[in-house]
Amino acid sequence: MTVPPPMGLIAELTHRCPLQCAYCSNPLALDPPTSELSTGDWLRVLDEAAALGVLQVHFSGGEPMARPDLEAMVAHAHRAGLYTNIITSGVLLTPARMAALDAAGIDHIQLSFQDSDAARADGFGGYRGGHAKKLAAAALIRDSGLPLTTNFVIHRGNADHVEAMIALAEDLRAERIEIAHVQYYGWGLLNRAALLPSRAQLDRVTAIVEAARARLGGRITIDYVVPDYYAERPKACMGGWGQRFINISPSGKALPCHAAETIGGMSFPSVRDTSLAALWTGSEAFARFRGTDWMPAPCRSCDRREIDWGGCRCQALALTGDAARTDPACARAPDRAVMAEAIGEPATSRILPRRLRAPSVRPSPVL
Ligand code: SF4
Ligand code: FES
Repeated sequence: MTVPPPMGLIAELTHRCPLQCAYCSNPLALDPPTSELSTGDWLRVLDEAAALGVLQVHFSGGEPMARPDLEAMVAHAHRAGLYTNIITSGVLLTPARMAALDAAGIDHIQLSFQDSDAARADGFGGYRGGHAKKLAAAALIRDSGLPLTTNFVIHRGNADHVEAMIALAEDLRAERIEIAHVQYYGWGLLNRAALLPSRAQLDRVTAIVEAARARLGGRITIDYVVPDYYAERPKACMGGWGQRFINISPSGKALPCHAAETIGGMSFPSVRDTSLAALWTGSEAFARFRGTDWMPAPCRSCDRREIDWGGCRCQALALTGDAARTDPACARAPDRAVMAEAIGEPATSRILPRRLRAPSVRPSPVL
């Protein structure tokens, strides 16, 4: 099978982060700072990405601005002809760093918010004063002339504030607003019983988003991501396993998606000893769920198999114990009942904030 080059590289520069969001999709066992790739490793990876045909690099984490060499990486990627995006909480963005990023050629910054209001946002993120810093960061980004995307992750505790979130994004002169329900991986899955919104909340959020889209017309784009648990069909996770993206963990593992290491029995190549071109075209890990040959029934004969690629492998694993099952987010999946069981779980207010040390409690498959 000929493999076209990946479109994007997701560079998870570090798992360090000043915030402690309980919906974080990072793995429960976070990479320690001592394991992080060096600046030189990352610059070589960026060169390899450009040579392979990658178009975009997304600097992510954790908090990518916790790396003081972020500006050097942006400059290097820019010189290599890559489109550069930073996905950040914004709390470490100072005027000096904004100027340096601007000079380095950054193309886009996506800024996350925990809520519409400082007290609630700071409480959830576990960082006092964080919301005010994000407001300042948004102004710095817009004043530098860059496009701004604001990202709001929606869960039971903030779903009733979506109207105010959209108003905040308008005040901040955002060009794009992401209203994305929690994706239940990592810490989000661990905290699912506290985060999953009710059907009524979801319907209200959807109606608010639709009304805002109609009102804002072409002025501001709103991207909306619903929770898989209420969906009829799954998302094409990562645009299909091994088809669009390479995700590099802070310690250098090359992964088809950010949660791939949860799948036991697979080994993932490291960029420390394998080139991006070699691991993209030659590794078993990227080939394992690529295309349609691996698919079980009903995906294998389904008319959507090359649209959603059978959904998400990591979600299938988390909910059924087998990464090769049809994603239960699909109403046609044999394991669909686990979604209804999860929705029916008693809600709890007990939240475990993200932290570098892995918790002793781990999510277990529903089946
Ligand atoms: Fe997608 Fe498989 Fe469901 Fe068809 S059966 S819609 S391919 S997940
Ligand atoms: Fe791993 Fe979806 S997060 S395939």
